[in-house]
Amino acid sequence: MTDLVVRRLLIDLNPPFAARWNGGDAFRSAFFNALSMSFPVGEQYFIDSVRSGLKALPEAERERLAPEVQGFIGQEATHRRIHALFNGHLAALGCENEIERRAVKRLAANAHRDVRVHVAATAATEHFTALFADWMLRHPEALAGAEPRLRTLWLWHSAEEAEHRSTAFDIYATLSGNHAWRVRVFRYVTVTFLTDVLRQTVRNLWHDGSLFRWSTWRSASTLLFAPDGMIRGNLGGWRDYLSPTFHPSQHDATLSQQWLRDNAAQFAVVGPTR
Ligand SMILES: [Fe+2]
Ligand SMILES: [Fe+2]
Repeated sequence: MTDLVVRRLLIDLNPPFAARWNGGDAFRSAFFNALSMSFPVGEQYFIDSVRSGLKALPEAERERLAPEVQGFIGQEATHRRIHALFNGHLAALGCENEIERRAVKRLAANAHRDVRVHVAATAATEHFTALFADWMLRHPEALAGAEPRLRTLWLWHSAEEAEHRSTAFDIYATLSGNHAWRVRVFRYVTVTFLTDVLRQTVRNLWHDGSLFRWSTWRSASTLLFAPDGMIRGNLGGWRDYLSPTFHPSQHDATLSQQWLRDNAAQFAVVGPTR
């Protein structure tokens, strides 16, 4: 079990930021904006799924996992609040959030499914966020030139994603979710998540007027497809999830712990989990 605490970030997100807030780089800004636009609806879904999963457990298991789930919910609720603020600035800049609309529709179409499917979808997406999070902490240059408060926001979120990477996975295992469904849902989430983020990124770039610029796609290729880029560099980590013996704790989270230690002045701990 992981001890999770809830942290309140001590940054002021009220002042607006520039459209190309990420170092003036159109692609890096549009891509991270697309991710942020997916967070409020996604993180609410993770909260609901994990909460339902916990409720479905036998009492002894429920008691054992409840404190960690409480911490998970507190962390995701904080993320979604802050990203809603971030997205409010994007909306004021005229960016249309299509990824949220698509996600809401897809969730409604799948709402009838077994609780284990929802927990599996959460565990699958959390695997993505944990991979991306660790990658972000290894590659701070992805935020080169961004205002310190925005760098802090993204790295804090990354650190907590790596920290709570096992919660949904453990609930799924405790619900006796099987390997075949875990992998099936993971493949589905891979396709839908990447397609949705790409579509929203293209939409953001169109709005920015930089969709057809050479510099935009050069930046995309560096960020995502360099040998240690966000996509190419994470292929091995993606594949690990397919193994029947995989557990998220097999992936190193040292950088997350280190970031939280080194940046303790950037947040206040507001909730012990028990
Ligand atoms: Fe999150
Ligand atoms: Fe998460």
